[in-house]
Amino acid sequence: MSWEQFQKVLPSTAAIGSAGGLEIGGCDAAGLVREYGSPLFVLDYADVRDRLRSYRDAFGGPNVYYASKAFLSKAFASVVEEEGLCLEVLAGGELYVALAAEFPAPRIAVHGNNKSRSELVEALEAGVGRFVVDSFAELELLRVLTDELDKPAQILLRVTPGVEAHTHDYLTTGIEDTKFGFTIGDVAMEAIDMAARSDHIELVGLHSHIGSQILQIEPFVETARVMVRFLDEARRKSALELPELDLGGGLGIAYQPNDEAPRIEDLAKVVLEAVASEAESLGTRVPTIKVEPGRSIIGPAMVTLYTAGTVKDVSGGSRYVAIDGGMSDNIRPALYQARYTFLSASRPGAPHDTPSAVAGKLCETGDILGRDVPLPDVEPGEILACAATGAYAYAMSSNYNKMLRPAVVAVFGGESRPVTRRETYEDLLRLE
Ligand code: LLP
Repeated sequence: MSWEQFQKVLPSTAAIGSAGGLEIGGCDAAGLVREYGSPLFVLDYADVRDRLRSYRDAFGGPNVYYASKAFLSKAFASVVEEEGLCLEVLAGGELYVALAAEFPAPRIAVHGNNKSRSELVEALEAGVGRFVVDSFAELELLRVLTDELDKPAQILLRVTPGVEAHTHDYLTTGIEDTKFGFTIGDVAMEAIDMAARSDHIELVGLHSHIGSQILQIEPFVETARVMVRFLDEARRKSALELPELDLGGGLGIAYQPNDEAPRIEDLAKVVLEAVASEAESLGTRVPTIKVEPGRSIIGPAMVTLYTAGTVKDVSGGSRYVAIDGGMSDNIRPALYQARYTFLSASRPGAPHDTPSAVAGKLCETGDILGRDVPLPDVEPGEILACAATGAYAYAMSSNYNKMLRPAVVAVFGGESRPVTRRETYEDLLRLE
């Protein structure tokens, strides 16, 4: 693989520095590792702000809820806030972090298929802007709590539209047999009627999320059309004209240079047109479209830097390059057979033509981050970069084998700023 191909999956400011090493945000990768340790997540602020702005320009800031499950820290919540977008959180811990970052509660939407009583109370007391309600039990609990606390709640009902997302089975949520939401049709209609009868609850719209890492626009268009038709059905049956339709997240990104991911602008154009044309043909009002992208905002903006250790050629011809991280900082290859692009950050311009397996250091045979990855003849101590690790890598990291979570550092215009410090051994004992 060549530098031109690597650039397709690296953040936009990635470059080869004057000494021949990888630079991101004007910072030398090897220098960052010296300063912050290895492994290290590097977040390109210019790159991520561009994508936040693309979503904002395409859908309008108040209509875009960054899905914080992809990656959340106080510093990043502040970036989302500064760019004028909203935040989607899971009730509980994600809401806690968002509020700790002083993210304005009215711009937060709270999710979860099993929100507890105390989580709902926390969200009501904070005054969050939207609750996305997932079940009859939650609707009833929210009705009781809003009455008890005398607090209002603006809600969307999560509906499963029955659309197949064409992605990994674990990443599919729009089909009927899923733990999420109300099944479209009579069940969802009953939920609409129930919500409309509650004093403190204002039903403002419907929500659907069909899955994640979706590389075609078509499933989004189909969902939009199905949901607009259902809004119209609700209007006819319940005399309720719901103003909002949240189509969730799910836009995929390129992990490999030849992956073709739709552009944010194209997704917006096609989906908004589909919504308008469907509404027009039904003679119904055009709902405000909301979205909740996670991966397509943060995913391409980060790389993970690792340091190579043992390099082993085993009989049968395979080469294993062991790194100082693994499934504890990126579970996605093991969990979803996700494939990433690796390159040498020490010499990104060198020929990458030796097929290698990138092996993690955890005590687990499946702890392989990449197989048949073209790399140079890697030397121990060489720095490797794994591209597009912004989404669901740090967020799903663990201390398995008592591994330490890496630091996350933001880079911009030649400066670096720590986002999250590296864990220490003492952190491993802090709960005991
Ligand atoms: N909205 C809802 C209701 C969601 O459940 C999700 C993701 C999103 C928005 C954001 O989706 P995105 O734009 O990031 O695709 N751990 C998996 C992904 C799980 C996604 C869960 N829900 C992975 O590593 O691929």
